Amino acid sequence: VVDIKGGPDEGLDRLGQTLVVKGWVRTLRAQSSVTFIEVNDGSCLSSIQCVMNSDAEGYDQVESGLIATGASIWVKGIVVASQGSKQKVELQIEKLEMVGRSDPSFPIQKKRVSREFLRTKAHLRPRTNTFGAVARVRNALAYATHKFFQDNGFVWISSPIITASDCEGAGEQFCVTTLIPSSPEAADSRVDAIPKTEDGSIDWSQDFFGKPAFLTVSGQLNAETYATALSDVYTFGPTFRAENSNTSRHLAEFWMIEPELAFADLNDDMACATAYLQYVVKYVLEHCKEDMDFFNTWIEKGIINRLSNVVEKNFVQLTYTDAVELLLRADKKFEFPVKWGCDLQSEHERYITEEAFGGCPVIVRDYPKEIKAFYMRQNDDGKTVSAMDMLVPRVGELIGGSQREERLEYLEERLDNLNLNKETYWWYLDLRRYGSVPHAGFGLGFERLVQFATGIENIRDAIPFPRTPGSAEF
Ligand code: 4AD
Ligand code: MG
Repeated sequence: VVDIKGGPDEGLDRLGQTLVVKGWVRTLRAQSSVTFIEVNDGSCLSSIQCVMNSDAEGYDQVESGLIATGASIWVKGIVVASQGSKQKVELQIEKLEMVGRSDPSFPIQKKRVSREFLRTKAHLRPRTNTFGAVARVRNALAYATHKFFQDNGFVWISSPIITASDCEGAGEQFCVTTLIPSSPEAADSRVDAIPKTEDGSIDWSQDFFGKPAFLTVSGQLNAETYATALSDVYTFGPTFRAENSNTSRHLAEFWMIEPELAFADLNDDMACATAYLQYVVKYVLEHCKEDMDFFNTWIEKGIINRLSNVVEKNFVQLTYTDAVELLLRADKKFEFPVKWGCDLQSEHERYITEEAFGGCPVIVRDYPKEIKAFYMRQNDDGKTVSAMDMLVPRVGELIGGSQREERLEYLEERLDNLNLNKETYWWYLDLRRYGSVPHAGFGLGFERLVQFATGIENIRDAIPFPRTPGSAEF
């Protein structure tokens, strides 16, 4: 359908051609002598209007009432000029075959159903305009991501999903255990199947990896090993956080893009983040026009304008210290009061980008070391680290990055001060022993990027199957 509707003449160049369309029925309207069937095959937002006369092959299927919203059909027909005002062409059906009927209980009958309702139908929601459009834009953003990094000489690295180390040191990890049944009966009970010691605690020595293992919170540490060998690299894969945050910006399972630049400092890192965001936003504006127009009309009025500004304008940069000053001077009461040393809350982040700088992305740099991860490079002031967060309207923190501490003695001291176990990071410390280089990188939450680029308000609607506290259905 994308080839028909997306052509330069919206299909008029196809007049007279015979085509086959395979898709799902959105609506069916039977009039006395003709039946109109809207078919969508997911290739684009538009459905194609198919017109069927009673003498066409397969009309008995229509008469039988079996072809209803949700059913899958195969139609062959000729492209003809449409009498209607909504489309330039339609398909005059010669032959129709029903592929799979749809039970009358099909839950997405009405044109507009709430997104909350659709979350309970995550297996069927891609059949709606909104979720079809989100899926296509998400796909375009993924493609543009690879294209940006590949065109700039980065090598894609697959970082592991199962790991023994905690990159962020925040203890928000899911533990991985195996279910080796101790007896055939125990196989029925998953909890009993976890190897236990006599006192009832988990016996890690009997477990699959011989020690505790976790789902990764970030591929960064692994990416650093490859950056200090192949120079610029990036990861793009799933990450997991056992963070009990029930917000519209947090998922327990999300995808992260993490470039790592060798022989680079924080300025290089910020330049890369800016160029990347401008590239992928421009890419979807150019390649997903129909879907973006849909978001502009139905999801966030003015989003195309907002995104066009992102592509054209320089981003604001300011230090954390200046950001705190700005918040203290703000003519606004925040729920969480601000003082130097505190972590910025989402209300602060949104104030900075949405109100103080009129919707422009803002990069805040040089955060207090106490609120940032162990691997960030200490600045000469002894109080701050070379960290940066990119804040964008509606989403808040889209990117978190830093220059990494490349000096062995500083890094060891930091691990000690934070009571982190140096032994689990032995290989990471080795990178500072053998040919250490200044290097920097960042992590971008892919679903937050999808939110930013589509205007979708809740992150649960930016990923096909969201995982959040208390919810892992589908
Ligand atoms: O700021 P974060 O925690 O940084 C890191 O993980 C670094 N290791 C990245 C790096 O330097 N390579 O996470 C990075 C980004 C955030 O800015 C946010 O966009 C996203 O990941 N993110 C989440 N997205 C959805 N749900 C969550 N629970 C998220 N936690 C972080
Ligand atoms: Mg962060």
